[in-house]
Amino acid sequence: QEAHAAEMERTFIAIKPDGVQRGLIAEIISRFERKGFKLVAIKLVVPSKEFAQKHYHDLKERPFFNGLCEFLSSGPVLAMVWEGEGVIKYGRKLIGATDPQKSEPGTIRGDLAVVVGRNIIHGSDGPETAKDEINLWFKPQELVSYTSNAEKWVY
Ligand code: TYD
Repeated sequence: QEAHAAEMERTFIAIKPDGVQRGLIAEIISRFERKGFKLVAIKLVVPSKEFAQKHYHDLKERPFFNGLCEFLSSGPVLAMVWEGEGVIKYGRKLIGATDPQKSEPGTIRGDLAVVVGRNIIHGSDGPETAKDEINLWFKPQELVSYTSNAEKWVY
């Protein structure tokens, strides 16, 4: 009741090609859904390598940058926007540490991935990157505003 849809926090979440190929889409979506977060945009896309480089531009000096961009553009990615109170930070908590070897059991990477180069999911790491990544992956009209029936029981 308190939080207004218009001012509700949003984050960009993507299931990487390994997660899609391994059949983990439903498993991952269900974790965000059951938590009480709301899906406001979703599409399956094969990003170009140039697009992947834009998405990961902050990491362009890192040694793994090229391999990472090759990997992200190697197959279908499920791009999503999730909405809810604290969704940016808590989304990262649901995802777990970057290196699945260091992710706690109970997290997505902890439960479902083994190595950092195949860690199945991406989530924005802060409000600024969330905004930038949502704008990079989605057109404004692809974001759907609606009231879910669950909302009045979550808030
Ligand atoms: P980063 O933004 O640091 O992590 P996160 O995805 O948790 O926000 O890195 C982006 C991706 O780069 C990461 O998900 C996997 C890949 N990566 C490597 O392949 N090797 C590495 O040593 C690191 C740090 C990341």
